[in-house]
Formats: sequence, structure tokens, C-alpha cells
Amino acid sequence: MKILAIESSCDETATAVVENGRVVLSSVIASQVEEHKIYGGVVPEIASRRHAEAISGVVQKALCDAGLTLSEIDAVAVTYAPGLIGALLVGVNYAKSLAFSTGLPLIAVHHLRSHIAANYITHPSLEPPFFCLVVSGGHSHMVMVHDYTSFEIVGRTRDDAAGEALDKAARSMGLSYPGGLNLDRIAKNGNDKAFTFPRPRVHDNELDFSFSGLKTAVINTIHNAKQKGEEISVPDLGASFQRAVVSFLCDNTEKAMKLHKMKRLAVAGGVSANSVLRREIKNLCKKNNWELFLPELPLCSDNAAMVGAQAYYEYLSGNRAPLSLNAYATMSIEKNSPELDRKELF
Ligand code: KG4
Ligand code: ZN
Repeated sequence: MKILAIESSCDETATAVVENGRVVLSSVIASQVEEHKIYGGVVPEIASRRHAEAISGVVQKALCDAGLTLSEIDAVAVTYAPGLIGALLVGVNYAKSLAFSTGLPLIAVHHLRSHIAANYITHPSLEPPFFCLVVSGGHSHMVMVHDYTSFEIVGRTRDDAAGEALDKAARSMGLSYPGGLNLDRIAKNGNDKAFTFPRPRVHDNELDFSFSGLKTAVINTIHNAKQKGEEISVPDLGASFQRAVVSFLCDNTEKAMKLHKMKRLAVAGGVSANSVLRREIKNLCKKNNWELFLPELPLCSDNAAMVGAQAYYEYLSGNRAPLSLNAYATMSIEKNSPELDRKELF
């Protein structure tokens, strides 16, 4: 089954053709990074407008790269939540129009489910159940993947997502957007023990995260140094902050894996590209003799191949979206879209 997938939840207009959830026939990404860089972060209205301009071209290119015409496609899939609402709406409306004009089934895909599914492409043998640390710009979740379309969140951030904290800390250090990526680069030359940050305390659920205190600690460290006229080594501060974030992620993942007696761990989302996280999570899995699944680097950040992968399993489990499908800025990974059961609107 060949699925044409569309992703427009943030600042990448992406399309792909994926066969049977695992084989990527084409994957195209039109990135807006250079434009948002000027403003130090994603400007939602600019993102929506660029998606509107790019989407027809990237859909045509994905078909062309795969050597296929629309008549050879079996379904259209689209990210419908969560994300920037104006950005999501461009992809959702385009996908609905395609489905309407071709008569193809429409599949609505949750963004975080698709990040997890990036692992199915990199690791063809991976099948649920497994445990997944989902770390992106907007979310930090620890998820039991019971089945391809059945998820349970066992830990989450109480405030900032890991990627958001990395981005904000990077910005306060004067690094350009995208902060997390640039912090990772610059921290390679730093001493990760130069600064120490206290582990934030989270009450009620020992598996939950909190990153906003760490981020504030970095900002305060920079302000204090400025007031005293002291120079701060950005590579040292970046490396130390990154170590604090990664060790929090790894410690809670270890607790959760043990608590839930899991032996297979996957990592997903943009922050899964982080070199320190990848190194430390490998060490953790080696120490505990757990199997580890990491997406290959191009599949860590937003792309449509992962949407096509998840869409296949959504389709197999009977999830079909009506042409009244809406986009949602927030939506739990555990839930299906409210419209997915409204069959009368097909
Ligand atoms: O999954 P993603 O592409 O978009 C969302 O769904 O949010 O994640 C973007 C996040 C950003 O916060 C970005 O700074 C972070 O992933 N990121 C990284 C790296 N590459 C991207 N963070 C740390 N190290 C990286 N190498
Ligand atoms: Zn994402």
C-alpha cells in the first residue's frame, strides 16, 4: 500500500511516499529555517504562508521522486495535531482536497505518533510493545507503545519541553535558531562539568520532568556573570546545561523502564538527534542489557516519511478521517481525533 503523506505542523513543509509503513519511496522537505532564524524562532504566520506557497510543489516532487502518479497512490495521510494551528490547517486542507478530488481514503496522523513511527523506518524489525522517550520542541513524554495505535503516557514534563528548554537556553547564550542543534554543536568543545545545575524536584510522579527551572538557572548564571563583568565560556555553559538535561532524561527513562519491566527502548522527536543524549542512552541500554532503537538522524526532526509510516498502521486499525477533519493545536497521543468516528461525513 502506497501512502502519500503530508506534514506541516511547524516550519517544515514535508511530503513523502511510503510503502507498507516501512519503505520510503520519496521524502521531500522544504525548510523555512533560514527565514525564521532572522526572528530567533518560528513566527507562526510566516510559517503558514510559506506552507501555502510550498505545498503543491513538494507534493508534486514527492510523487515525481517516487516515479509515481496520483493514480498509483492508495491513501492520503496528513498530520492533524498537535502543532501550530495555522500551519497544520494548510496541510490538512490540502490533504482533504486531494482526498476529495481523487476519492482516496484520508488518514489523520498525530504528530508524536509519527515521530515514534520514524523508528519503524530505521528499524524494520521493530514492533510494539516497546517503551519510547519522546523528546521534541513541544513535548517531553515517556510513552508505553502497547500497539501501533495504542499509547499510554507514564511521564511528562510539567512545564517546558526538553527541546524548548534547550532552544531558550541556547538563545540566552546568544546562539542562533535552531538553538538545540547549535548548542549541541558548540557544546562539543566545552567542559560539561564547568557548571552544576540542581536537579529539579517533581512531586507526585517521580517519572515526570521539569525543565523550566534549569533554563532559568542558565539565564541567571549569564545575568550574574554580566553584572560582575565576568566572561562566560558558552561551550562550557552549553555542555553543562546539556549534561543536566540529558541526565534528567536518562534517569527518568531508567526508572520508568524498570518500573514497567520493559526491555526495549526507542527514542523519538527532534531532540533524539542530540549527540549527548544518543551517547548516554546507548550507555544506559548497554548497562541494563536493553535493546535500543534510535531513528537515523534525518528522521529525527520533522519529516513526512514518519507520517506515512504511522498512517499505514492507522489505516490497518481502521482509522479513516472524514472530509470534515479539523486541525488541533493540542491533542493527547493517547486519543484519536474526535472526528475519526463520524463515518456519516465520508
Ligand atoms: O520534533 P521536532 O523537529 O519538532 C517538534 O515537533 O517540536 O523538534 C524540534 C526540537 C527543537 O527544540 C530543536 O532545538 C531540537 O528539536 N533539536 C535538537 C537537536 N536537533 C534538533 N536538540 C538538541 N540537539 C540536537 N542535535
Ligand atoms: Zn516534531
